[in-house]
Formats: sequence, C-alpha cells, structure tokens
Amino acid sequence: MKLARIARIGHAALTKDPHPPPCVLGAEDAFSSLRSSLPASFLLGTATASHQIEGGLDNDWTDWERGASREGEPHIKDRTVSGAACDSWNRIEEDIALMRRLGANAYRFSVEWSRLEPTEGAWNEEAADRYLAWALALRAAGIEPMVTLHHFTLPRWVATQGGWMKDRTIELLASFSRKVAKKLGSAVDLWCTINEPNVLATMSYVKGVFPPGLTDSRIAAQVQARMLKAHARMAEAIREADTTDADGDGRATQIGIAHHVRIFQPATRSPLDRLIAGFTDRFFNEAIASAPLTGRIELDIPGVIHIDEAVPGLLGSFDYMGINYYGRDHVRAELRDPSLSKQYVPADRPVSDLGWDIYPEGLYQVLKRYGALGLPVYVTENGIADKGGEVRPSFLRAHFEALVRAAREGVDVRGYFHWSLLDNFEWAEGYEPRFGLFRVDFDHPDKRRTPTPAVETFQEIARGLGLRPEPG
Ligand code: GAL
Repeated sequence: MKLARIARIGHAALTKDPHPPPCVLGAEDAFSSLRSSLPASFLLGTATASHQIEGGLDNDWTDWERGASREGEPHIKDRTVSGAACDSWNRIEEDIALMRRLGANAYRFSVEWSRLEPTEGAWNEEAADRYLAWALALRAAGIEPMVTLHHFTLPRWVATQGGWMKDRTIELLASFSRKVAKKLGSAVDLWCTINEPNVLATMSYVKGVFPPGLTDSRIAAQVQARMLKAHARMAEAIREADTTDADGDGRATQIGIAHHVRIFQPATRSPLDRLIAGFTDRFFNEAIASAPLTGRIELDIPGVIHIDEAVPGLLGSFDYMGINYYGRDHVRAELRDPSLSKQYVPADRPVSDLGWDIYPEGLYQVLKRYGALGLPVYVTENGIADKGGEVRPSFLRAHFEALVRAAREGVDVRGYFHWSLLDNFEWAEGYEPRFGLFRVDFDHPDKRRTPTPAVETFQEIARGLGLRPEPG
C-alpha cells in the first residue's frame, strides 16, 4: 500500500513538468518563521568525509589517485592527489570554531576504516581516542555528531581481498562497526552506516571512475545488494555495542543510510525514454529506498541480472532515511551504454561548476516521496560546486525553502546537513570543485579557511531556528 503510494508520487515527480515553487518564507521575514515550521530538535549542520578532509591517509583511494586509465587519462581529472587535504585530522578545534560561527547544532563526519584498522586484526587505539575526543568536543560545543562508518574508502587490505565484490566484506565491516560503536557510543547516538551505496556501485562498477574501475552493471547490482546486507549487519552490531543514550532523548541509537536520490526526468515523451528513466529511477533511487519497508533487495537490469531476496535483519534496521540530494538529470535511452541511458542537463538550465542542474524543487519532490516511507528523514547532504561562492547563497536559500515547504506539508524532516563545511577533495574530480561554506587555501601551510558569502545565509537560517551563530 505504502509502496504503491511512493511509486505514484515518484511517477508524478518523473512525468510532470515542474512548476516554479511558491516562495514559502517571504523575503522580508527571511527565515524568522522557521521555528514554527520545523521541530524544536531540528538539526542544522554540515557534512564531510574523512578521505576528503583529514589528510595523511593510506587506502584504496590513495592508490587509485596515482593511477591512470588504459588510455592514459589520470584517474583524478585535475591530476591532484588527496594528500594533506584540509588537514582536519589536526585541526578539529579550528573546524568546530567554524561550526560555532555558522550557528550549527550538528555535524556529520566519517571515521576512516584504514586509520582504525590499518591491517587485518590491528586496531589503532590512538586514532580511536582522537575520534572519541572529536565527538565529545562537538557535544561540548552543542553540536550533535552524526557518524558515518563507510564513506567510499576501503583499507587496502580489504580492497585487495576483493572489497565490495566479496561477501566477507560484510562481516568485516560489521565487526568494524561494532568496535567503533563501542568506542564512540558514549558520545554518539546518530549513526549513518553507509554513504550512497548506489553512487559507489555506479561510479566504481558501471562508470569505472572510482576504484576498482570496472564497467559491469551485473557486478554493480550485486555490490549494491551486498551493501544493503552490510547495512543490516552493521545496524545490528551498532545496536549491540552502543547502549548509551548520549543526548538524553531516551534512545541510544538512531541508525540510517545516506541515500543519494536524483530526479530522473525523461528527455522526451517517447515511451522508450520514459521506460529507461523509470528503470534508472528504480535501480538508482528505489532499490535502496524501498528496502526499509520490504526488508528485501529488489534489483533488476533487464537481460542482465534480477535480484529479489529477503535480507535477514533488514526490516527494522532503519530508524531514519538519510537523503543526499544534488539535482536532476534528463534521461535519454542509450541502449549500448552499460547503464542503458544517457544522462544530461539541457543547455538552458542553471548549473553548478560541475554542470549539475540546480533544481531546488527536486528536493521538495524527493522529501515528499520518501517522507511517505513513514520514517523520519534527514537531508544528510546537499550543496553546490561554486568556485566564486556567489551562487551558493541562493542555492542554500532555495533548497532550505523546499525543505520547509515539505515539512509544512507534513514530511517528518528532522535535519539538514550542508555539503560541505570546507572545500575538499572531490573524488575523481580532485580539488578543482569548491563545495565549502568556508574556502580552503590548499597552498597555505595552515590550510587557511575563509568564509564564503553563504556563511551569512546559513547563519540567517540558524537564527531563524533559534540558534546563535558566534562572531567570527
Ligand atoms: C556526494 C558524496 C560526497 C561529496 C558530494 C559532492 O555524492 O557523498 O562525498 O563528494 O557528493 O559531490
């Protein structure tokens, strides 16, 4: 019943022409009415990931960064390597000061598996102490930590055993999650098991631009299924290991996934484009999003693979659904491509520096769609590559307005995490795209951080929620 409703809303989102969103907040009162539209416990924060900000890492990605394709194209477009990144491993106090300046009351970050378990069976207690100290320092600053356990990277020893192509990785990651939850549980309640299983599966195993660089959609489907199985096992392990209610809300854990959701707009009214857009939507958006309701993995690539399997522990493993939303793709059938489609942005659309469609209405649509799951929703990522920083304020404003509109229409949205606090290492793109609310000068020995104009927009939202940004 619920699934049918979600499918209907999804279908409407795919086929209807988007109407311009009504302005829900009004220019003059800006964000002053937010408190009445959102829950008092609403989390407003930023998101980062270890590999993109910490610096000094050694994992499957650092190996990948040094490589090139068979045609000689470097794996990283701008030929950089993650290297010292933002040096956040050594600068957490500075980063927390930036969060206070924003008025944020939450921060989503990931713990780096390769740091904590550099080789099989080893455990780096010093690194674990540092992550615990971070979580405690955040809490002391009034900032709720959300900890991601897997954000794209694998320790080299896991990758060389086959990584996500092997079932063994499920148990390895569950056991890692148990150790982290035990260590950080006294300071952390909000857990995100895996970041974007669909993006990892697509980029690593269909497009071949993330390690291990394969182009086989059959393997991609199996990997996505394996990640859902891992989520279930990780959730179980976290619940066993973290029994401390750190924030006093009566629950020791809240567990979810960060699911990347895109709007797939059929390029034309042709039945084939619509069919392929629907298929892409089911593979990329639905397979993960329907799992909390069905307890099953359902993935179908016609003529390639069909997976339909009940997963022990999957039902009930989600306390919330995390949504990473960046935009919309137009979809045209392209049957020779492994993804069966060509995705593009029409020339007349406003785009980010990465050419991504700026489409705030899509955030409203996905919140309505996945709000119908019956789970609380967090926007676990949303942001824009904007080198000059001039577009980000209106991007942030428009997307937050879309969120408020969905909340006013009954969607149980509990938080918003902007990607990102800082400019950082943007995977296969390198350092060229700038996603930070704070700009990072990567050539400066202190990786100097300076505010972009969107800091003020963020502060306005924070004030509207009754939070108090600190002077810079
Ligand atoms: C997401 C990913 C982040 C970040 C962001 C901006 O897909 O989770 O790590 O790279 O995109 O592109």
